[in-house]
Amino acid sequence: MDIKQSLTTVIHEHVSEHLTLKEVAKLIEKPKSENHGDYSFPCFILAKKMRQSPQGIASDITKKIEDPLIEQVEAVGPYVNIFLDKSVVSTNVLKTILKEGSNYGQSQIGQGEKIVLDFSSPNIAKPFSMGHLRSTVIGQSLANIVEKVGFQSVKINYLGDWGTQFGKLIYAYKLWGDENKVRQNPIKELLELYVKFHKEAEANPQLEDEGRNWFKKLEDGDEEAHQLWDWFRDESLKEFKKIYDLLGVDFDSYNGEAFYNDKMANTINQLKERELLVESDGAEVVSLDEFDLPPSLIKKRDGATLYATRDLTAAIYRQNQYQFKQAIYVVGHEQSLHFKQLFLVLQKMGFTWAQNMHHVPFGFILKDGKKMSTRKGKVVLLDQVIQEAIELAKENIDDKNPSLENKEKVAEMVGVGAIIFHDLKNDRLNNVEFSLEDMLRFEGHTGPYVQYTHARAQSILSKYAAEPKVNDGVNDDESWPVVKRLHQFPEVILKSYIEYEPSVIAKYLIDLSQAFNKYYGKVKILHDDRQLDDRLALVESTGIVIKDGLRLLGISAPENM
Ligand code: ARG
Repeated sequence: MDIKQSLTTVIHEHVSEHLTLKEVAKLIEKPKSENHGDYSFPCFILAKKMRQSPQGIASDITKKIEDPLIEQVEAVGPYVNIFLDKSVVSTNVLKTILKEGSNYGQSQIGQGEKIVLDFSSPNIAKPFSMGHLRSTVIGQSLANIVEKVGFQSVKINYLGDWGTQFGKLIYAYKLWGDENKVRQNPIKELLELYVKFHKEAEANPQLEDEGRNWFKKLEDGDEEAHQLWDWFRDESLKEFKKIYDLLGVDFDSYNGEAFYNDKMANTINQLKERELLVESDGAEVVSLDEFDLPPSLIKKRDGATLYATRDLTAAIYRQNQYQFKQAIYVVGHEQSLHFKQLFLVLQKMGFTWAQNMHHVPFGFILKDGKKMSTRKGKVVLLDQVIQEAIELAKENIDDKNPSLENKEKVAEMVGVGAIIFHDLKNDRLNNVEFSLEDMLRFEGHTGPYVQYTHARAQSILSKYAAEPKVNDGVNDDESWPVVKRLHQFPEVILKSYIEYEPSVIAKYLIDLSQAFNKYYGKVKILHDDRQLDDRLALVESTGIVIKDGLRLLGISAPENM
């Protein structure tokens, strides 16, 4: 049983006339200083409601709390400070972790239902941007997290592979393209053709018409147009897969925008049947006036469909295909309006499941305070950035641990882990300043620091042959901060799921690592006394939790580094 839960219940019993269970849970704090206990309950709000002094209420509640996990309760002014029983809690938690291993913290909240995650979703024939990197890393982690709480994840890479721009690209290729060059360096070449097209079109608007024409051909299934498009798509996907391999990310589906080309007519019919389509300047739109939002544009004047039409169609298709319980879109915050509109149009169509669709937005990646841009042919090649991180990690390892085996493999885990951790450690809506040097440091709030802590735990364990086991638990002051945090892991996972926020786990891992390293600095772990087994159980448990926490973020944990 979760301590916080039982505490909430006990306190609630005494104040149920004034506060709900949820309100009590919200009020319970974790004091910063160990002197104020492990949990603390402030009585100000109750005092107002009961018209009594908070001190009086605190001392009343204090007398009533009793629980095998609690050692001592103190009223200090308006606070009830609660101290857990270190031996009981540590015995419990260490036994649980050793027994459950990497399943520790697993729950069944999701009951095996499906959550569809739409993430990464780069645009073909364009470089994989920093924004797509964020979406990839956050999306993969959320998929791991929802699985940990008992859902089944369906990971969808909704490739941007459809739209008028591909007509332009096909035409540009026909005018100026060089097959060999494209084969050698597809994304760079295609991007150059696209940029050239726009430059030339400024002087010669006829190009635009031809471009539209070629997209029309593509939509109608013209063979030449389709062959070229197929080829561009394949080459792009090959490039993207290099990045996914490095990051250790995979998908259940690559159905991109093009997949819905022949399914949109049906969506438009459904909108018509429900009398939701109205004409506006020759285009067809769904009005969202009642929500004070601009209308959702479904069909352009020239009959072409749009991003919104495809997303609408994809959502309906996915509900039919997967019967998802929730759908999550991991996309930058600049698309917030689009998703608001999308969900509202689905609701207007009468789909109640649209209530369980969520846009999970995130901030930009910045370089020297400016948004990192891939426009105007200024390309940041992401796989090169990742390779550079791996190189730097290797230099660090050469420096710190020159005789390490498997150096290449470890450097890859550390370099990639550093990039991912750096992205996930702050609230996702914050912008991220991209600095390879910062993210690769072995101390501070970095991935390598957490990985290093895990490796340290493994190295202690490797010096001791016997299997760790729990006797009386650890009850000294030094180990308590570690035990307490291990105990919080299930709570932390839940919170990260509820908020769709991997940073909750990243921050927790930093916190746990700091606590463990402090412990390591103070205590002779391998000292042969009665508590040796329990101390080793603590070390092993810490290793298990850090490793699984990193896994939830999409990061591997080397045994040595
Ligand atoms: N390809 C789009 C872009 O790069 C992102 C797609 C996000 N997913 C979606 N279902 N709209 O901006």
